[in-house]
Amino acid sequence: MSGYRIACIPGDGIGVEVTGEARQVLDRAAERHGFRLRWTEFDWSCERYTRTGRMMPEDGLERLAEHDAILLGAVGFPGVPDHVSLWGLLIPIRRAFDQYVNLRPVRLLPGLVSPLAGREAADLDMVIVRENSEGEYSRIGGRHNPGTPDEFVVQQSVFTRRGVHRIIRYAFELARERGGAVCSATKSNGLVHSMPFWDEVFAEVAAGYPDIPHEQCHVDALAARMVLRPDRVDVVVASNLFGDILSDLAAAVVGGLGTAPSANVNPERRHPSMFEAVHGSAPDIAGRGLANPVAQILTAAMMLDHLGEHAAGAAVRDAVDAVLRDGTVRTPDIGGRATTGELGKAIRDAVSGPRPAVR
Ligand code: NAD
Ligand code: IPM
Ligand code: MN
Repeated sequence: MSGYRIACIPGDGIGVEVTGEARQVLDRAAERHGFRLRWTEFDWSCERYTRTGRMMPEDGLERLAEHDAILLGAVGFPGVPDHVSLWGLLIPIRRAFDQYVNLRPVRLLPGLVSPLAGREAADLDMVIVRENSEGEYSRIGGRHNPGTPDEFVVQQSVFTRRGVHRIIRYAFELARERGGAVCSATKSNGLVHSMPFWDEVFAEVAAGYPDIPHEQCHVDALAARMVLRPDRVDVVVASNLFGDILSDLAAAVVGGLGTAPSANVNPERRHPSMFEAVHGSAPDIAGRGLANPVAQILTAAMMLDHLGEHAAGAAVRDAVDAVLRDGTVRTPDIGGRATTGELGKAIRDAVSGPRPAVR
């Protein structure tokens, strides 16, 4: 009977539980299909780290190399910083064995229902506060060994204490205004310098807002939460790149980029702020009257608020709401047949308030 040597690293938390089940299922399948699985279990985990100061022994990688495959549960648990646990176990395995493809299939399993159906307007009300001046968007770096097989590029991120502090503080102030909570998007398990620093500043700022509920969430898990439990997301504060990605995701969760407004704000008002929708120039639909103007109209309403014209801003938002609620005039991206101009006109006609004086 053929057999395979499998290294099993249950790891931490539910990793242990789910791996136990998976292992039993595999054993049953092997038995039915005429092969054997020879398991070697390794207790490499945060628990081990706390006992020994290492996630895995010094010769861990050599021991794994003797196996045909590795089944790993999950790594990381409160008490050991994520960048220590992940860089002490998971990431060295990926790197040492050149596991350079990370393949992640997604499909709707039979009988399961996509969680996005049946959401009410009140379930989805979040704000992404995206750092807009530094972070991963940087010109520092460059190309090395051009034209050789050893060519590589370095793209640096820059996170300044002042920059991180001020964006996080803005998020807390906004949460206070909304009566909401702050979630900080981090990735301090993978990024060992920038994100631990981001988390440190987040904790410092949070200490000044004991009345505002707050938490930090890995950006990957937060992306899943935005889809699964968007009702549990309020103010999200994120670095430039994470905020960019999360803001398109958040827009998708409410039906697409056609309705997502955005503002580039200078809160101190030392300089003009800029208002532009989240979406881009959409060359695929450009010039055909297909574009949904709602995102840019709501963006313009944000500009009115910024200018202190709150009543006018509210009137524009109310007009958008009224037209969308009525539902007869919609662009194709939100399930209608109207053109950009027709939807724009319907909203314009719905804007209420005193008539402009005849000049
Ligand atoms: P997470 O994926 O562990 O959890 C995110 C959310 O999904 C939580 O609400 C959790 O309850 C839910 N969830 C996850 N797996 C589930 C399952 N099998 N069944 C039901 N619900 C499930 O992400 P996190 O909270 O960001 O990270 C927790 C720790 O895991 C951190 O230390 C992180 O660094 C680490 N991590 C490790 C791996 C890995 O080892 N491959 C991957 C991701 C995160
Ligand atoms: C945005 C855009 C820009 C960004 C691109 C065009 C550089 O995606 O405004 O969200 O990432 O900031
Ligand atoms: Mn973007």
